[in-house]
Amino acid sequence: MTLPVTAKVPFGGDYNPEQWPEDVWKQDYRLFDAARIDLVTVGVFDWALIQPAEDTYDFALLDRIVERAAAEGRGICLATGTGAHPPWLAKAYPEVTRTDFEGRKHRFGQRHNSCPSSPVFRRLSAELARRVARRYADDPAVVAWHVGNEYGGACYCDLCAAGFRDWLRHRYGTLDELNAAWYATFWSHTFTDWEQIEPPSALTEHWRGPDHTAFQGITLDYLRFTSDAMLTNFRDEKAAIRESSPDLPVTTNFMGMYRPIDYHRWAEHLDFASWDNYPPDDGSAARMALTHDLIRGLKDGQPFWLMEQTPSVTACRDVNPLKRPGLMRLWSWQAVAHGADAVLFFQLRASRGASEKYHGAVIGHAGRSDTRVFREVAELGAELDRLGPASLGARTPARVALLFDWDSWWALEISDGPSRLVRYQQVVLAYHRALWDAGVDLDVVAVTADLSRYEVVVAPALHMIKADLPQRLEAVAARGGSVLTTYLSGRVDENDQAFLMDVPGPLGQLTGVRVDEWDARGPEVVNPVRLGTGADQVDVEARLLFELVVPQGAEVLGTYQADFYAGTPAVTRNSFGAGDGWYVAAGLDQAGVSWVVRQVLARHDVLGPYPDVPDLESAVRVAPDGSRLLFLLNHRAEPVEVAARIGGVDLLTGDRTETGSALRLPAYGVVVMREDR
Ligand code: GLA
Ligand code: ZN
Repeated sequence: MTLPVTAKVPFGGDYNPEQWPEDVWKQDYRLFDAARIDLVTVGVFDWALIQPAEDTYDFALLDRIVERAAAEGRGICLATGTGAHPPWLAKAYPEVTRTDFEGRKHRFGQRHNSCPSSPVFRRLSAELARRVARRYADDPAVVAWHVGNEYGGACYCDLCAAGFRDWLRHRYGTLDELNAAWYATFWSHTFTDWEQIEPPSALTEHWRGPDHTAFQGITLDYLRFTSDAMLTNFRDEKAAIRESSPDLPVTTNFMGMYRPIDYHRWAEHLDFASWDNYPPDDGSAARMALTHDLIRGLKDGQPFWLMEQTPSVTACRDVNPLKRPGLMRLWSWQAVAHGADAVLFFQLRASRGASEKYHGAVIGHAGRSDTRVFREVAELGAELDRLGPASLGARTPARVALLFDWDSWWALEISDGPSRLVRYQQVVLAYHRALWDAGVDLDVVAVTADLSRYEVVVAPALHMIKADLPQRLEAVAARGGSVLTTYLSGRVDENDQAFLMDVPGPLGQLTGVRVDEWDARGPEVVNPVRLGTGADQVDVEARLLFELVVPQGAEVLGTYQADFYAGTPAVTRNSFGAGDGWYVAAGLDQAGVSWVVRQVLARHDVLGPYPDVPDLESAVRVAPDGSRLLFLLNHRAEPVEVAARIGGVDLLTGDRTETGSALRLPAYGVVVMREDR
């Protein structure tokens, strides 16, 4: 079971005709024609309409919505409708609403509000999915199932407490094992009965908030449990769908780098991955690239769907900036460049009321087609038509991997010490930024991924070390590859217990260093770091975290310049087999991170075609027929000109470019070049 079968990159998005009289639907489809919208995602929040009472299912409206879409020749991504439960359900069964971190039992309201452990919720959500699937599975217009919506949050109710205890029994078997894993002798926590175990919340282990816990092991397991409990909800619905729809691909829309849910633990249960891209500003091009790569990495490089993006503005933020002309198009192509096989919006027509009435939409309240946003959407629709099937199923030929690990993210950020200011994502983003600037095609993968296909593995803040990861990283270096890791790596095992050895624990052999002690300072404190020697020497700044390194065979490439550890190593490289293990001991600024990353890359032939043109992103996809598609994305508001490294045809314009001749990209311009063989 893989991707939905489509003739080209599907274009469209979330559509809520249930909010409108049917004469509006007619106008919508004429506008969809004009914009070449060929896919609608429907039914995402329809539970209350489909099931107005426990014993009543009423599909009349959804029937008309599906019939209309099918009659108009549109593909349908059909949702199970369980992202928000109906009022009657919360009234009849108070157990379905969540209890929050502070212990407040919620009443009916909002969405994404169901307790994942509630047997009633589990039974009725699966039943809804079962009935939706049974009713529409044979409709040829339906190309994919969309389960729930943006799973997330957490619940701390008694049902979740009981679910947590079951999950723990399954994980540990005995209380002795659990007590050992949680280090329960500390602060008199030895549990003698499973019933004594409480979810870690503001009422129990936490003070100040979700990141401040007395027992990291308990909090870590509750994060894992919560992710798994919601995964169970997804799997309940998927199993119900499968009773009548054995083959149609099933997904749920993820949220990118979303801390509460470990998408790597979910990935194998989805037929294809999809995500909703809502960048906080227009300076996040690298971050979006990273997130696309992360989502593509969930299914071993299989293309994913861009399930949602706004054509113009969001509504949920305090301040909601407008995408500048050209940015929606540029970012849509960026998604395709990184593996998206669908470009979808939230939303096709703007809601008239409630919290998203000012959210951007393809069709606004006035229903016009002569708006800038509609025109840009229609132009993109025409371009995707021109592209046709060329990119469908295409893969990214990456030889560089960036490791991303939810357990490390959680463990690092719930840790007391060394510094609350070191944020996992910021560290990962800095190393990714350096790779992105160099135009490297990279995979963002789980620590369990097969690393044997990569020449370079970058593992920022690899705080937790699980299973045979050290051996697999050593193997990369042994056969001539490079492994780069940083401060706060190799610290704890899977139970968040420190290794009884020198830091960086099981990464010590590979990196050839030992960390003797560490220093954390506020963001205002800079320790200058001198990198390289002679003509290559540069001075950069380090902040937040400074590990004091004693080389155990590693060569020193950079040193601190201040404080009592002036002159000691901040960056090292260790020969290991035919390759190297690199270690960055401090929070280098971007210039410093980029310097180190370029040193690593210099030993491998992995740079993109334009590693020195700022903000000109490149990405390669190789289509199933073997053709190489080079995507060039100009993230600048000014034009840029480069020489084509390989000739080819721009699939968006049909223009040919010969090897060595000029390629001009206007401000925010895009080239999708099929390279000559
Ligand atoms: C999310 C949801 C949508 C909608 C958008 C608004 O992605 O899935 O239902 O609320 O946000 O940006
Ligand atoms: Zn609960």
